[in-house]
Amino acid sequence: MKPIHNCIVNNNTTINPIWLMRQAGRYLPEFREIRKKNKDFIELCLNKKMVPEITLQPLKRFDFDAAIIFSDILMIPYALGQDVVFSKGLGPKLGNINLNKISKIKIDKFSNKLKPVYESLEIISRNKLLKNKDLIGFVGAPWTLLVYMINKISPKKELKKKFFHDRNTINKLIKIVNNFIKIHISNQINHGATIIQIFDSWAGLVKEEDIENYIYTPTKEIVDYTKKLNVPVICFPRGIKNYKKFVNFVNPNAISIDYDIDPKQILKDIKIPVQGGPNPKILLGDKNQLKKEAFKYLKIFKDHPYIFNLGHGVLPETDPKMVEYLIKFVKDN
Ligand code: CP3
Repeated sequence: MKPIHNCIVNNNTTINPIWLMRQAGRYLPEFREIRKKNKDFIELCLNKKMVPEITLQPLKRFDFDAAIIFSDILMIPYALGQDVVFSKGLGPKLGNINLNKISKIKIDKFSNKLKPVYESLEIISRNKLLKNKDLIGFVGAPWTLLVYMINKISPKKELKKKFFHDRNTINKLIKIVNNFIKIHISNQINHGATIIQIFDSWAGLVKEEDIENYIYTPTKEIVDYTKKLNVPVICFPRGIKNYKKFVNFVNPNAISIDYDIDPKQILKDIKIPVQGGPNPKILLGDKNQLKKEAFKYLKIFKDHPYIFNLGHGVLPETDPKMVEYLIKFVKDN
């Protein structure tokens, strides 16, 4: 059985599978080489020769237990007709959205725009490097997608006040976007994804009074949908204060925790399998510090199903040698 499946479906605690968010990306010189020659990021995500190659780059180097498709959560706004560009050092920039237009988009047209993503998944799933390993497909949660779609740039710490007050528009958009998220999930599963991760990178920006409407309810809807397709689903609601409440309400197969949360408290509060936690900065320091931090999590979760990962993505300035060291350490402990 695939190690991550064994951990989160069978609740096996004897091994700690490992993969890292952003394991395919800028810390790898072979990725930077490809990126230099492919200036348009969206186009790169739609290149079915390059997507499999980039996805498999980390598996060629390291003994990860899963591949995650090289893509982006912003492929959904792109497929809904919104302009998305990535400028160097500034992050993503989105164009204006037209609510009227988005609500009229046909499923076929949406799926067709993302066809190269699905074809890439098929190619990747047939590769022998994936033997006995999971292929992770992913989506952004509706809230995080809306943050980008309406704010149009990364919000850093807070959102424009105007955005928060228009609950009517937010609720309408969540409904529309959630339907396309489901389509994107089912398409990824039909083309070879064996696990789905839902990234809610800006969950921490939602006020307590809105959290049920903007986070719990729509996320539960896509979690239930994915479970019905018989594929395990991992949620990463980064920055929320109350993981216990989230898990009780949403009930995914596993919960990915960020680095601001106390893992000992999580162990007390949460019964489902846990993923992640350590600050990505542990890969920037020295090896002893890295071992100490990694061991802290392995020890706390030694009798709890636990997938080793970080509390957010691998930082671009990470030395690939440190990633190799970490994987070896996790496999030996
Ligand atoms: O994890 C993986 O290896 C798979 C690929 C992956 C990317 N983006 C590739 C990427 C995944 C899972 C994502 C998810 C994603 N994208 C999230 C959720 C996770 C998180 O980091 O919070 C978010 C918020 C985005 C949106 C996004 N895409 C931003 C804000 C940026 C620019 C800044 C940044 O964080 O890199 C991107 C660009 C992006 N997506 C790059 C990569 C490798 C860098 C592109 C480049 O400049 O070369």
